[in-house]
Amino acid sequence: MLLEWLSSLTTLCPLAEARRLGYLHEAIAIPARYRRCREAWKPHLEQSQQAIRDAIARCEHKRTALVIGSGALLDIPLRELSEAFGEVMLVDIAHPRAALREIRKYTNVTAQYIDITEIAREICVAKKGRALPLSRPRYALDRRDIDLVVSANLLSQLPLLPERYLRKRGFEEAAIHGCCRQILSAHLEYLEGFDARLCLITDTEHRIYEGDRLREREDRLYGLTLPAPASQWRWHIAPAGEIDRSDHYTEVVCVTAL
Ligand SMILES: C[S@@+](CC[C@H](N)C(=O)[O-])C[C@H]1O[C@@H](n2cnc3c(N)ncnc32)[C@H](O)[C@@H]1O
Repeated sequence: MLLEWLSSLTTLCPLAEARRLGYLHEAIAIPARYRRCREAWKPHLEQSQQAIRDAIARCEHKRTALVIGSGALLDIPLRELSEAFGEVMLVDIAHPRAALREIRKYTNVTAQYIDITEIAREICVAKKGRALPLSRPRYALDRRDIDLVVSANLLSQLPLLPERYLRKRGFEEAAIHGCCRQILSAHLEYLEGFDARLCLITDTEHRIYEGDRLREREDRLYGLTLPAPASQWRWHIAPAGEIDRSDHYTEVVCVTAL
């Protein structure tokens, strides 16, 4: 608890609407969860890093790499990115202090504080009975020098806090569902807007096991489907005892082109 509190003082999340939606809290919770589940998460983090390395190797030009959802940098092979590209832009709504310390080691890597959905501010002022806002991401689409775009274990996370915020304020379930789905499809469209190699890594399904018995499964993509992935693996996200006595797995899919 003390570690989490200390980290809350130093994690940087300058966008007021992002803090209002709870992103600062999440940015602290992820590294804390990682410290507790380090061994269980290891294969997932290695697979994610490998997917990014494969994408780097397939880039014909290596001017700028844009990495979205870089966060705590657990799944990002930062040294390789920095060595391969002229410039590396790491984008997240919150960058933990430890990640910023790591970033400072590289002269060609920068951290940008961006709400990549471009919807957080409007969600904060949404009114019941009126249409919910639409996500229309545009960040860096005008940069012609971006040769690699990585969406790093981010897609399924994008609607989580807007959903929680709207539900707490009593918005209709159907409207919330539509809004979340639109956030996801807008992100996929956004990625396709770059003339660059794409590396999308996302979890698609959450499964809860009791022993060997599958108790529950939840679609994390609100009914959207992705193109056939280059690789697919299971992430043992919460070993028994982390949330309850069940084992929680997520199915992670890496798509290297959309
Ligand atoms: C599951 S983490 C990804 C893991 C991260 N790549 C790492 O290695 O720690 C999801 C990341 O997405 C970021 N994120 C969530 N919503 C976002 C948004 N609207 N704009 C930008 N980043 C967002 C979170 O802050 C978090 O760092």
